Amino acid sequence: MPTAKKILITGGAGFIGSHLAEKLLKAGEEVFVIDDLSTGNLKNIAHLKNDKNFHFIKGTIIDARKVEKLVKKADQVYHLAAAVGVKRIIDKPLESFLLNIRGTEIILDAAAKYKVPLLFTSTSEVYGKNDKLPFSEESDRIYGSAYHSRWGYAMSKGGDEFLSLAYYREKGLPVVIVRLFNVIGPRQTGVYGMVAPRFIQQALAGKPITVYGDGYQTRCFACVCDVTDALIKLMSHPKAVGNIFNLGSEEEISIKELAQKVKRMTGSNSKIVFIPYDKAYGRDFDDMAHRRPDLSKIKKLINYQPRVNLEQSLLKIIKYYSPR
Ligand SMILES: NC(=O)c1ccc[n+]([C@@H]2O[C@H](COP(=O)([O-])OP(=O)(O)OC[C@H]3O[C@@H](n4cnc5c(N)ncnc54)[C@H](O)[C@@H]3O)[C@@H](O)[C@H]2O)c1
Repeated sequence: MPTAKKILITGGAGFIGSHLAEKLLKAGEEVFVIDDLSTGNLKNIAHLKNDKNFHFIKGTIIDARKVEKLVKKADQVYHLAAAVGVKRIIDKPLESFLLNIRGTEIILDAAAKYKVPLLFTSTSEVYGKNDKLPFSEESDRIYGSAYHSRWGYAMSKGGDEFLSLAYYREKGLPVVIVRLFNVIGPRQTGVYGMVAPRFIQQALAGKPITVYGDGYQTRCFACVCDVTDALIKLMSHPKAVGNIFNLGSEEEISIKELAQKVKRMTGSNSKIVFIPYDKAYGRDFDDMAHRRPDLSKIKKLINYQPRVNLEQSLLKIIKYYSPR
């Protein structure tokens, strides 16, 4: 039997990280999670805590000594910890920008020192206001004014991509960069502005389903189950190293249609109400109308094909949030 790999997941008590940890443990690996529980939750990993191959370390990725100790004994690092969610970015622009840049530099530095392969989760937000769809990995990135703090997320993640590639080119660190488009599934919280769990919780509670803007903006939502499968495949594929990949779904839906779908699927009597962006996020808000990935690169390399469609993903979340 092959020996278990030691795998470090930063942000492993979060939504995507907890699903990834679960999958890696099932595959027989030993998993170490570092998380400061700022947006993550111990509930997400409660079912893993009795597994002898699971280790949770409460701490921040800004703690370079702690990070170095963990990276040193790891065979692979999945770097997911970040300040996420438009709401958090706008409310705490300084803290979130610095965390995403400094935290990533600390992880990359330790990984480079011990030559531990690293996968970094970037975001579709890096394409910014580019309106030429679908976005391919080579597409231009177009950002709005620096006065709009929401671009701090795209800028910091974009900076992290440069940093990762620089560590690959100059220090020989094996890195893979994955630009996630909207990912949904059980355990995702609506508290930080994520739209699918927010709509579902509102619908189940019989409260108004609040659509920000006119609702004509479109997004593509992928199931966390498909996304984590692909992350694991990319991490182990030698041809992924030094490359950037889009990862998500190509099934596009407007946010207004998403609200209607959630209302129908939950059998809710909630009203769908439209809230202007400035009321939801303040005057400095700016948004991108549409986002759709070109997935040809990842399909070609790992034969990526989402197995779960939007309706099936929504059902899983509805089940998760429904009273037992
Ligand atoms: N969910 C999506 O749709 C999506 C889309 C694009 C990119 N991403 C990226 O995927 C990654 C995971 O996102 P998620 O949706 O699971 O969000 P999440 O908030 O559930 O996970 C992030 C985790 O990082 C932890 N964290 C934050 N700051 C930390 C610090 N200083 N030290 C240690 N841990 C810290 C949080 O507590 C949380 O558990 C992030 O890098 C995010 O940018 C997610």
